[in-house]
Amino acid sequence: MRIKRRRFDSYPGSSSDPCDGGREGPVSDQAPTTVIVLAAGGGTRMRSKTMKVLHPLAGRTLLGHALHAARGISPDHVVAVIGNQREQVAEHLAQVDPDVVQAVQEEQLGTGHAVAVGLAALGDAGSGTAVVLYGDVPLLEPETLAAFVSDHRTGGRTLSVLTARVEQPAGYGRVLRAADGSVTAIVEERDATDEQRAVDEINSGILAFDLAWAQEALRTIGNDNAQGEYYLTDLVGVAVSEGRSVGAFQIEDALQTEGVNTRVQLARLATEANRRIVERHMLAGVTVVDPATTWIDADVSIGADTTVLPGTQILGATSIGEDAVIGPDSTLLDMEVGDGASVVRTHASLSVVEAGASTGPFTYLRPGTTVGPGGKLGAFVEAKNTRLGAGAKVPHLSYVGDGDIGEGANVGAGTIFANYDGVNKNRTRIGAHARTSSNNTFVAPVTVGDGAFTGAGATIREDVPPGALAVSAGSQRTMEGWVARKRPGTPSAEAASRALAEHESDDDVQETTP
Ligand code: UD1
Ligand code: CA
Repeated sequence: MRIKRRRFDSYPGSSSDPCDGGREGPVSDQAPTTVIVLAAGGGTRMRSKTMKVLHPLAGRTLLGHALHAARGISPDHVVAVIGNQREQVAEHLAQVDPDVVQAVQEEQLGTGHAVAVGLAALGDAGSGTAVVLYGDVPLLEPETLAAFVSDHRTGGRTLSVLTARVEQPAGYGRVLRAADGSVTAIVEERDATDEQRAVDEINSGILAFDLAWAQEALRTIGNDNAQGEYYLTDLVGVAVSEGRSVGAFQIEDALQTEGVNTRVQLARLATEANRRIVERHMLAGVTVVDPATTWIDADVSIGADTTVLPGTQILGATSIGEDAVIGPDSTLLDMEVGDGASVVRTHASLSVVEAGASTGPFTYLRPGTTVGPGGKLGAFVEAKNTRLGAGAKVPHLSYVGDGDIGEGANVGAGTIFANYDGVNKNRTRIGAHARTSSNNTFVAPVTVGDGAFTGAGATIREDVPPGALAVSAGSQRTMEGWVARKRPGTPSAEAASRALAEHESDDDVQETTP
């Protein structure tokens, strides 16, 4: 198996993935598609040094989720409009999706202004359909976005808006419709009449429109409203006044349109995202004993008939095979776990546990560790950058760092691989089917040959040839009566004297019996 090294915030379908739309876009006669992701707003209500859209949820940033949805429709161009804390956001974009065109909105003058800035960054490349997404709406699914865009195209409309009916529409723009159901305007909460505020169909903020038309239309909107902002939603009014067709695509699942403004909302949406992810795995054949205490990131894969026990986090790009047992109380980040493996009370990252292998309880796997098929890292064992061959075992209380442990080898309880000489890290090699004893220290670099043995308490500084026994502890010296002489009057001396007296009287009894 191969370790997938991956940052928590990258995601499948990014432009480095050769099978996505990327720059070339889908091969079709359709007009090109451009997605504009708005991410310039301040997000002050997060009260964070980290820009709002960079906060993580289910293993991606909020912005990462928006880009994932965007890439799901294989657009020709993706533009991100950035402004506040733009260095942070630009760096993140370069990491997770370097093909995204970055457009800087110096001042946040409103969503209409932001989209104009985004379109300007495309220059002459802009035509076809534009889709606007927000960088802080993490639950939007690529399938929903695809259905929306396809509905917009087949309807032959100039502009479409993704809407939902919600119980508490406060704060959102309301969708106003004519008697025939056609959309006539979107009015912001603060500009709405009481009657308009009673409307429970809200503007998600997700829009699709003809790009060339919008480029012109955006020049005509003003900022004469309660917030003094250029409203993107005013495009609806412009289209209607020009007699163009405007439509709404209403979805049932309003949470897909919900944005994050505070950390309270972040936790609520993260819990909901997790609920959906866990449910997806259960429906695909994974047993999750306690969904409430199980956290699974968006990009995790788990095979059928695997059981996940309570208190377990499966994070990043972790992939788990079939018939495995994970947990309880385990954290796995960017791990690869094979079929039938058992990972119990384990904290592990960037490592591999192969088929039928086991770890735990209370085991720490640091990056670069591989437990071969049927192998074992047992209780209170820490491993780092160490490979165990098939069936190799480190069952108890050990630190194995920078090691190669051959197949079928057994490393005794209380072993330390002394890998660090204060300057360099060195490797310890334990041969196939070697038996190293309890409380050994291996001073690396050092090699124990195939089938070799070591004695209890050995400190192994020199290589041990195949089949040899190496012992290093001196032979035992026993100084009788040492405690009575050197520690007189202590409880130890008294206990020793009682034991010796009893021993003598036992001897007397034996001597007097015939
Ligand atoms: C907007 C919509 C509203 C909709 C709501 C959905 C407008 C005028 N209103 O309101 O109808 O119901 O979203 O959540 O469009 N942004 C920029 N640059 C700016 C302003 C905003 O990039 O100059 C970005 C923000 O970072 C954010 C998004 O645009 O990601 C929405 O901005 P926000 O101020 O939250 O819009 P709302 O007032 O909530
Ligand atoms: Ca606003």
